[in-house]
Amino acid sequence: MQQFGIGLAGMGNVGAGVYKHLVQNRALLRERLGCTLEIRKVAVRDPARVRPVDVPASLLTTRWEDLLDDPSIQIVVELMGRKEESLGLILGAIERKKVVVTGNKALLAEHGKEIFEAATTHASPVFFEAAVAGGIPIIKAIREAFIGNHIQSIHGIINGTSNYILSRMTDAEMSFDEALREAQEAGYAEADPSLDVNGGDAAHKAIILASLAYGFWVPADRIFVEGIESLTTSDIRFAKQFGYRVKLLGIIKSDESRGIEVRVHPTLVPEKHVLASVNGVFNALAVKGDVVGETLFYGRGAGQDATSSAVISDIAEAADALVSPRRNLGFMPHGLYGACRPIDDIESEYYLRLSVEDRPGTIAQIAGILGELSIGISSILQPESEDEGSTVPLLLMIHRATNRQIQNALQRIGLLACVKKPPRMIRVEHFS
Ligand SMILES: NC(=O)c1ccc[n+]([C@@H]2O[C@H](COP(=O)([O-])OP(=O)(O)OC[C@H]3O[C@@H](n4cnc5c(N)ncnc54)[C@H](OP(=O)(O)O)[C@@H]3O)[C@@H](O)[C@H]2O)c1
Repeated sequence: MQQFGIGLAGMGNVGAGVYKHLVQNRALLRERLGCTLEIRKVAVRDPARVRPVDVPASLLTTRWEDLLDDPSIQIVVELMGRKEESLGLILGAIERKKVVVTGNKALLAEHGKEIFEAATTHASPVFFEAAVAGGIPIIKAIREAFIGNHIQSIHGIINGTSNYILSRMTDAEMSFDEALREAQEAGYAEADPSLDVNGGDAAHKAIILASLAYGFWVPADRIFVEGIESLTTSDIRFAKQFGYRVKLLGIIKSDESRGIEVRVHPTLVPEKHVLASVNGVFNALAVKGDVVGETLFYGRGAGQDATSSAVISDIAEAADALVSPRRNLGFMPHGLYGACRPIDDIESEYYLRLSVEDRPGTIAQIAGILGELSIGISSILQPESEDEGSTVPLLLMIHRATNRQIQNALQRIGLLACVKKPPRMIRVEHFS
C-alpha cells in the first residue's frame, strides 16, 4: 500500500487535534484512501512545552525548514498561524512540489494571489478548507459541489466569537463589554479579541470565499469592514421591536453585469430568516447559485475538533492529488467577473436611531432631508419606554439607498438642532 509522509508545522490548538485524530482514525483513513498517512516531522517553537497529545520527541523540530528538506514528506500542513514563516514554508513546499494544507485565513487573504501563482507555476496544489468556517465544508462546496453554478450570493455568520457576543447581548441583554468578558472567560475569545470584534477575521474569510466564488483574489482594500464594538443593547432591543436580530454578516454578491461586492458589517436580519436563529459560537452560510438555488450550511466555525476535521479532509485530498494529479490546484483563477464595487455605490436598506428633542416638527425636518435626497422611509417608531432625559429615541427604517446617499443624509441630519447625538445606522438585509 502506498504511504505518504506528512510534515506538520504547528502543534497548537489545531495541530494537536489533527495529530490526535489522524492517529485515532488511521484505519478508517487507510480503508477510504487506499494509502497510509504517516506524520514524519512536527515543527514547533518550544519542544519542551507540555502538549495534550503524546508526540515522540524524535519527530519534533524547531526548524520548519526541516519539513522542506525531508524528501520523505510529500504533504506539508501549515498550522503555525504566523505570517512570514508560514508564507516561507508554503512557498518553499510549493517549489518542492509538496502538496500544501493550511488553515491560515489571514495569510491567504493577504497573499492568496502570490501563493496560487506559485502553485500554478509548479503545478502543486494548496488546500485550505479550515481557513473558513472551521468544520463546515464550505470551501469544497463552492469549489466542487457548486462548480456548475454562478454564485449569486453568500451570506455568512463566519466569526463565532462575535456571534457569541451578539447572542448574549440579545438574549441576556448584556452590554458589549460584559458579553466580551464572558466570551473570554468561556475560552471563546482571545485575550486580544480585536480581529474578532472589529470584523477583521470575518473579512479574511469573506475575501477567501469571494475569491473562490469569482475567480480572482479580491484586494483587502476593496472590501468594506465594520465591527460590532460600537453596538449597544438599545440598538439590539429596538431591532427586536422591528422584528430583526443583529448579526455580523459577511455579504458577498454578484450583480447582473458580473460586478461583485464584498462587505462585513453588523446587519439587521429578519427574525424569520434562518440565519437569525444561528446563536452562540456557531457559524452558518447561506449560498445561492443560479443552478442549485438556495442552500444552507451550519456548524462549528472554530475549535480543535471541528477545525481538525477540515484539515484532515484536506490531507486526504492531498493524498488523492499525489496519486492522480489534477488541474484544479485548490483555486481556479478566471476572468468572468469584474472588480469589487466600492461601498459608496452599494445599495442597502437601513435602520437609523436618532436621539431627538421631543417637540413638534422634528420628524418633519428629518423626513424633509431624506426626501430631498430621494431616500424613502418605510417605517418610523418612537418608543416610549426609553428614558434619555430631555431627548427621545426616534427609529427609522429606510428603503434601499446607496451608502453615498445615506452618509450624506446622516451628515445633514446630525447637524439639525433638534438632533442631540450623532445618528446611529445599521444596514438591513432581506436576502432578496
Ligand atoms: N484555533 C481555531 O479554532 C482555528 C480555526 C480555523 C483556523 N485556524 C487557523 O489555524 C492556524 C493555527 O491555529 P492554532 O489556534 O492552532 O494556533 P496556536 O495554538 O497558536 O498554535 C501555533 C503553533 O505553531 C507553532 N509555531 C509558531 N511559530 C512557529 C515557528 N516559527 N516554527 C515552528 N513552530 C511554530 C507553535 O509552537 P509552540 O506550541 O511550541 O508554541 C504552536 O504549536 C492559524 O492560522 C489559525 O488562523 C484556527
